[in-house]
Amino acid sequence: MTKSINIIFGTQTGNAEQAANDISEYVKSNGFQTFVQELDDVDLNNLKEMEYLMIITSTFGDGEMPGNATIFWSKLTSADNDNLDLKKIRYSVLALGDRTHADFCNAGKILDEKFEKQGANKILERAECDVEYDEISKEWSKNFLEKIKQIN
Ligand SMILES: Cc1cc2nc3c(=O)[nH]c(=O)nc-3n(C[C@H](O)[C@H](O)[C@H](O)COP(=O)(O)O)c2cc1C
Repeated sequence: MTKSINIIFGTQTGNAEQAANDISEYVKSNGFQTFVQELDDVDLNNLKEMEYLMIITSTFGDGEMPGNATIFWSKLTSADNDNLDLKKIRYSVLALGDRTHADFCNAGKILDEKFEKQGANKILERAECDVEYDEISKEWSKNFLEKIKQIN
């Protein structure tokens, strides 16, 4: 059966969205299905059921979530969701940022830590991009698919 990969992104000025769409095309060209969504459109009940998940986010403000990821982040970190079970998920994070800022790639970092804390399985280490993201994004996607192909 064709594996389906969820790609969720957080962006302020469009880079992470562009990266998510490019990655989706690449993933589809490798024979997988994709479902691309903004982070704020992700429902936590649906999130729990996701199997393969690529998380792509920039960082904004002083190490904060970008504009379309703030609602998701509040839900995810709300006390009501302390016991959210993300064990089904196999994921990795692609973080976009800029080293001239103090909290380099912080949004990607804290999302990664939170997913791990809730039991999600990190199948590939987080990749961090300093301004330029194209090459790292391609490498990260390729490595992610390699990991997925090893899973029956
Ligand atoms: C006002 C502003 C604040 C930013 N703050 C951070 C930050 O705290 N840490 C970081 O690593 N990058 C920071 N960045 C860099 C962005 O994350 C980077 O440019 C990224 O590629 C933007 O992606 P996006 O278009 O998907 O939002 C900031 C950029 C701007 C313009």
